[in-house]
Amino acid sequence: MAKQDIDQIFADQPWLDPEAEPFVKIRSLTKTFGSITAVSSVDLDIYESELFSMLGGSGCGKSTLLRMLAGFETPTAGSIFIDGVDMSDVPPYDRPVNMMFQSYALFPHMTVEQNVAYGLKQDRVGKDEITERVNSMLEIVELPTFANRKPHQLSGGQRQRVALARALVKNPKVLLLDEPLAALDKRLREQTQFELMNIQEQLGITFIVVTHDQEEAMTLSTRIAVMDQGQFVQIGTPTDIYEYPQTRFIASFIGNVNMFEGRVVENHSDSVLVNSVNSNISFYIDHSMDVHENLRVWIALRPEKILVSDTPPANGAKHNVAKGIVDDIGYLGNFSTYKIRLDNGRIIEIVHPNQTRPRDGRHLVEWEEDVYLSWQPSSPVLLMK
Ligand SMILES: Nc1ncnc2c1ncn2[C@@H]1O[C@H](COP(=O)(O)OP(=O)(O)OP(=O)(O)O)[C@@H](O)[C@H]1O
Ligand SMILES: [Mg+2]
Repeated sequence: MAKQDIDQIFADQPWLDPEAEPFVKIRSLTKTFGSITAVSSVDLDIYESELFSMLGGSGCGKSTLLRMLAGFETPTAGSIFIDGVDMSDVPPYDRPVNMMFQSYALFPHMTVEQNVAYGLKQDRVGKDEITERVNSMLEIVELPTFANRKPHQLSGGQRQRVALARALVKNPKVLLLDEPLAALDKRLREQTQFELMNIQEQLGITFIVVTHDQEEAMTLSTRIAVMDQGQFVQIGTPTDIYEYPQTRFIASFIGNVNMFEGRVVENHSDSVLVNSVNSNISFYIDHSMDVHENLRVWIALRPEKILVSDTPPANGAKHNVAKGIVDDIGYLGNFSTYKIRLDNGRIIEIVHPNQTRPRDGRHLVEWEEDVYLSWQPSSPVLLMK
């Protein structure tokens, strides 16, 4: 590969560059509350201008980690460096970070403009500079015409953008966002996700976002850290996490998945054959894995990777096929979900885009119809734990 290509890859994905210096460095960070370990000895590198997400279920330690970055919570052990500076003895107001809280309380009696200006006034910034910075921030969040409204005269999404402007106007090097979009309904949340990404790109500030919404994390992030019980279970790009989950927990946590318990029956230098324990499916995987014969493994198969057809696969394929009966069909407009019941009663979930209109009200396959399932040898993900 040419040097300039490598440079480009490292510029886009600095975490791949062994020479790159992380902007936020977390080392062996722990926080305990009495007998509860909220964050358990985590290490993490975040690079400048990343939009990094921490994703995990309720109580897994996301907010605690963010609050330690902001300085609102003192670590029990470990250290945090931001832009090369050890934060141990730096109080919250002197840190180059700002935080948008899980509930972004705006001052109800102040206008949008006053809300955004508040922090700058407290810092005794000059009047002209305040006006200039507030105006340009309202421009960025596309609210200049709302400057004189009070929060109750705004929609949820607009209020959210005011809170964002208020956090950004102080020019933090890192913006910490705790569930920034949780208060919005689905449609507004999706729209605001893109606005958030645009603003982040425009300003180049490092964003660290906490969310329990996996779709949100997938859409927004350069990288995601999946958290469970105070620890990171996998850190990677959205594609890594979705297509190459390292454990059953992650495969099931992100998106839907069909999980099969199996045993390795053949192990070659370029392929692996796994037989399902509870059904007569055999999975042929077209790359090598570090496994041995008879090893117990799990196969994760995403619903959108499975093809469903009412005709048997050509040339009597033995691997990566299954036969069943249509148990349920969910028509969602843009795509349909099919639940297929195998001989052993096991239900397999399939997702299929509706590229053509159903003709005469007919779906791709119909209820109670005998159907054949198949998938590519690159689709099954082999998991060892
Ligand atoms: N001040 C505190 N005192 C005692 N326990 C706490 C305190 N703050 C958090 N915890 C506990 O630490 C764990 C992690 O809490 P945290 O708020 O970080 O979770 P979270 O991942 O942000 O969850 P959610 O998605 O519900 O906001 C939980 O078990 C919580 O009860
Ligand atoms: Mg929280």
